Amino acid sequence: MKTLNIIGSGRVGRACGRMWARAGVFEIQDVLTRSRASAGEAVKFIGAGRAVGHLDEMRGADVWMIATRDDAIVPSCRTLAGSGKITPDDIVFHVSGATPSSDLQPLKESGALIASVHPIKTFTDPETAVQTFPGTFCSVEGDAEALKVLKPAFEKIGAKLFDIIPELKPVYHAGGVFSCNYLVALIEAALRAHEKAGIPRAASLEALEPMVRETVDAIFDRGPAKALTGPISRGDAATVKRQLAAVSSWDAEMGALYRGLGLVAVALAEADQRIDAQRAALLRVALSHGEA
Ligand SMILES: NC(=O)c1ccc[n+]([C@@H]2O[C@H](COP(=O)([O-])OP(=O)(O)OC[C@H]3O[C@@H](n4cnc5c(N)ncnc54)[C@H](OP(=O)(O)O)[C@@H]3O)[C@@H](O)[C@H]2O)c1
Repeated sequence: MKTLNIIGSGRVGRACGRMWARAGVFEIQDVLTRSRASAGEAVKFIGAGRAVGHLDEMRGADVWMIATRDDAIVPSCRTLAGSGKITPDDIVFHVSGATPSSDLQPLKESGALIASVHPIKTFTDPETAVQTFPGTFCSVEGDAEALKVLKPAFEKIGAKLFDIIPELKPVYHAGGVFSCNYLVALIEAALRAHEKAGIPRAASLEALEPMVRETVDAIFDRGPAKALTGPISRGDAATVKRQLAAVSSWDAEMGALYRGLGLVAVALAEADQRIDAQRAALLRVALSHGEA
């Protein structure tokens, strides 16, 4: 069985580590985080491996996973490359969707094979992530020889893999940010609007829940265009204009958000022939009202 070292073992490192240990995919060896205490917690969660407090203490391994937060990937990679720990054909990969595997180039120069595997999943906590990981789509890119090992390793814990063009990863990852993180931000915007209209947050959450759940179901059952309702889907430009003015005068940032999302909705409704070109043009004029 190939050995695996983990650098950075928070939500993703812990969840993957436990799944690989339980499935007998990798022998989990050394686990490094910023503090020995959190490395100890990670090892406890994984149920295998040895917590270390410094890179110097790490032994050589067949495979190295870098699962730090994104902005620590390059520094960790440089430190690892300069450590003399890498031997030819070691595999080093990161799990970031926003950055390409070429961020690990210094390791390639040390003889390693480099890759990236990015799960399209929100790892809110590692315990839940382990339960819900099977079926998760993961984008992969990098050296073919590295992927020969990593693809089956991820497939054995239930991942569904697809190739991604490395240069397009920032925009690909924005898709995840829009659909996951900004969905949260969008609901927050809705709560603030309700608050402004005198509806307390708790009551608003309760009132919005059925509509939001129904909308999400409709998106995945029937597609985004069919799920779209409201003034833009009806071509109601006067309502949109009034609403934009009210929102903008309450909060300029919320006005910009309303405008930007409105333009996406107009394009969607027009493409689905819910509104004709003339209605779409009127809506775009309404949405440009008050633009700086
Ligand atoms: N969370 C998600 O939903 C998700 C989904 C897909 C992909 N990813 C990717 O997975 C990676 C990790 O994300 P995460 O959510 O698991 O992050 P996280 O929970 O914040 O964990 C980051 C881990 O990295 C450690 N760390 C930070 N800087 C380090 C350094 N210089 N050297 C060693 N360890 C260091 C932290 O140590 P301490 O424990 O000591 O703080 C922590 O264990 C990121 O590249 C992210 O883009 C995340």
